[in-house]
Amino acid sequence: MYNTKKITEDLYWVGANDRRLALFESVYPVPAGISYNSYLLLDEKTVLLDTVDKSVNHQFMENIEHVLDDRKLDYLVINHMEPDHCAEIAAIVKKYPEIKIVCNSKIQTMIGQFFNFELPESQWQIVKEGDSLSTGRHNLTFVFAPMVHWPEVMVTYDTTDKILFSADAFGSFGAVDGNIFADEVDFDLRYMDEARRYYTNIVGKYGMQVQALLKKASNLEIKMICPLHGYVWRKDLDKFIDKYQKWSTYTPEINSVLIAYASVYGGTQNSAEILATKLAELGVKDIKMYDVSTIHPSYIVADAFKYSHIVFASTTYNMGIFVNMETLLHDITAHNLQNRKVALIENGSWSPFSGKLMTDIITGWKNTEFISEKIQLKSTVKKDNIEELDKLAKAIVETM
Ligand code: FEO
Repeated sequence: MYNTKKITEDLYWVGANDRRLALFESVYPVPAGISYNSYLLLDEKTVLLDTVDKSVNHQFMENIEHVLDDRKLDYLVINHMEPDHCAEIAAIVKKYPEIKIVCNSKIQTMIGQFFNFELPESQWQIVKEGDSLSTGRHNLTFVFAPMVHWPEVMVTYDTTDKILFSADAFGSFGAVDGNIFADEVDFDLRYMDEARRYYTNIVGKYGMQVQALLKKASNLEIKMICPLHGYVWRKDLDKFIDKYQKWSTYTPEINSVLIAYASVYGGTQNSAEILATKLAELGVKDIKMYDVSTIHPSYIVADAFKYSHIVFASTTYNMGIFVNMETLLHDITAHNLQNRKVALIENGSWSPFSGKLMTDIITGWKNTEFISEKIQLKSTVKKDNIEELDKLAKAIVETM
């Protein structure tokens, strides 16, 4: 049965939630589910903005039928060709064979890559940056946003109601629970961490491109943001845009310490715990610790974007970095993290080597400084190490 949500007097959410998906993009755990947002505009012409993932196709089709209420579907605007949004394009074309697809040329090429249907030239409206489509009362303008998150991405701006259909930007992990507007839920408490984890892991690598989109958006009067995942924003837009400013410029949100450790028999964990206690005794608040063996790296990547200081503590394993720590460091590198202060603890019962290897990886991070020399443990924390941890805690605090 249909389940739609009214956004404005003539705009409807016709998306759906997937609450069973284990791994979004086959990588990211989504314990609170994920929403695939699609929007249907009922103007003199009817316009569907993006489709959904194939997992929710039945709900989506029922939603469209209900909102259209026997009207025909005139336009399908495609902003992004990742299959979590484009999967139902062929089904829409089949069901509404007279539909006109509105997209840019890169999107048209990708449609040819993902699908086998053919449409006459008259049913394609290929747009360039800044082109517009009048649908009656509304006027839609297309703004290109390459690499937010794929190269073909564009966003659509409704100049009439000042609504930005922002594609992946301003989205979040987590299904939408009844409400559709971010101001109807305690977003900070329930969703901000997931919005950060979504941003940093999905588009975190492309800070410059997100900056370019934010610059374009700053020239638009925006009253509402309709993303492809998560809640719709109609209040406190500046607050969320400010988060995007920070995340896309790799600016820490808080001045505090994230400690990520890899420990096989507890020695390395012990050093991390002692360091955390010493930092707390020196007045550091909001210290966060992660055991990299038990927490999915996407959560740690997200907090690496949040915290100003990061301590990595790892045992040596097969003459390398412990595998989960190595994965984490490569993951953070791939997401282009910059502007951090880092300290290292290595452990090894006969040949501690992880510190050098971690240094080699982190040296590639832009504008990232090491705080003092690495601390070396041999199996367990000894008296000398306590003094070193004490010094490290003080050195960290001095840089805060
Ligand atoms: Fe939600 Fe890049 O797709």
